[in-house]
Amino acid sequence: MMEEAQYFAPVIQDEHGEVTVELAKSHPGFADPVYRSRRNAIARLALEHRSGDPVPVVEYTAEEHEVWRLVSRELQAKHRRYAVREFLEAKERLALPQDRIPQLQEVSDRLGELTGFGYLPAAGLVPLREFYGSLADSLFHSTQYIRHHSAPFYTPEPDVIHEVIGHGNTLASDRFAELYRLAGRAARRVESQEALEFVSKVFWFTLEFGVMTEGGEVKAYGAGILSSYGEIEEFQKMNIRPLDIAAMGTTGYDITKYQDVLFCAESLDHLEDVVGTFWADCDDDSIAALAASAGS
Ligand code: TRP
Ligand code: FE
Repeated sequence: MMEEAQYFAPVIQDEHGEVTVELAKSHPGFADPVYRSRRNAIARLALEHRSGDPVPVVEYTAEEHEVWRLVSRELQAKHRRYAVREFLEAKERLALPQDRIPQLQEVSDRLGELTGFGYLPAAGLVPLREFYGSLADSLFHSTQYIRHHSAPFYTPEPDVIHEVIGHGNTLASDRFAELYRLAGRAARRVESQEALEFVSKVFWFTLEFGVMTEGGEVKAYGAGILSSYGEIEEFQKMNIRPLDIAAMGTTGYDITKYQDVLFCAESLDHLEDVVGTFWADCDDDSIAALAASAGS
């Protein structure tokens, strides 16, 4: 399994059904027993979810709602300044609550009406093939826990803020939703693990951390930038390279810090032309040729 794809704390279930999320010592919630038990309880709900059932309801605490409120407020101003128009318009349509964490099922229902997308609950790391493949069926695997209150501006672990404020708002755009589906179909089509990882890296440098020029400025459309009010203030200063499939599919990244290499599309049309067409047409052979051309 490619540990580069996403950082997730391991979720362990013992023979009595007890669920433990193993947070690293460096995790901001490591020494917080209240946070630890919330993480365990929320992971357990996802593990017990059965396919076809609605996404489990999480009864969030006042403190958890407060983290959402704070981050929503910070991001509201920063999105207006740094996000692409397509995202802002989609965000207006989805109209997420800012004063409380919405239930994932509620966001899923609204997305269904807008673009046909829906959420599935994830306890932790979902295998690449399943995570990306599900996108072809307009399904997005999502965590439901929230980041620790001591570090609201950034987390190296995808949480409900990232999944909903980052991906959910993006998935409320028909044009972005279609790009997610194309990535999913590509992930289903390719056979080798190498080709799958290449497809997932192109996803990383576009739908997770992509930027594009708009009105003479570099704006963000990647969900990972749009869910972090720390990172969103920094991306314009990073090493910004032109959109390049072979480079995106072969460039490494460190998930634990702000991304210092970003790829910039000239417009949404350009992104659809280059990346949408790549995902629509790629197979193991074409990807092997691209990887060889990148000389890595
Ligand atoms: N850093 C993001 C935030 O603070 C969340 C995140 C964690 C993430 N891991 C990721 C985003 C991987 C994209 C890809 O909101
Ligand atoms: Fe993500």
